[in-house]
Amino acid sequence: MDWRSDYGNYLIHQERSDWLVNQLARIPHWASVLDIGCNAGRDLRTLARLGYSNLTGLDVNDAVLSLPWPLQIIRADVSILPRFRAGAFDLVISVGVLEHVLDESLVRYIDVLSAKWIAVVSIDNVVGENYRPYVYRDLWPDHDLIIETPCPDGMFENKQAQMLSMPPYMFRLFEK
Ligand SMILES: C[S@@+](CC[C@H](N)C(=O)[O-])C[C@H]1O[C@@H](n2cnc3c(N)ncnc32)[C@H](O)[C@@H]1O
Repeated sequence: MDWRSDYGNYLIHQERSDWLVNQLARIPHWASVLDIGCNAGRDLRTLARLGYSNLTGLDVNDAVLSLPWPLQIIRADVSILPRFRAGAFDLVISVGVLEHVLDESLVRYIDVLSAKWIAVVSIDNVVGENYRPYVYRDLWPDHDLIIETPCPDGMFENKQAQMLSMPPYMFRLFEK
């Protein structure tokens, strides 16, 4: 899939962000946040409304730059991650993205960023042209898995997942 041209309208799924921020209730408002694959920024905008102010979005799609943003947005691929200094972010979130990142070393690199928390929503154990079956707790040895729960039925499912009866999307929160 070429994400640079396939943008999608993920802003319509506000219920996903409302559910996600409940899972993140323990993260203090002073936390600096990086959203990898932020798209139109539904999750970041929701965090901003809750009082978080140090918010950065990263997405490969050109369209993200043309949106009105109250946040810092970087139009780039995840290959930019090694350019951030360790400790630059307290929380890294990534929702529906990492299972599509084909280069394992970049997903592994998130550990090196040394964020206190990493929150991921992903579909597991699917192998395919656009999917990688990552076992995140093996990739991020410096972090403990403190929440692991399936996302509510149907909330994050896409058409392909429904057609192929893929496993449910999982939410995981790691802490260092
Ligand atoms: C399924 S959408 C999810 C968007 C958003 N996280 C959400 O929950 O609404 C995947 C997003 O990840 C972005 N993306 C995919 N691969 C990427 C990469 N290698 N680096 C940066 N962004 C990427 C796409 O452009 C797209 O906006």
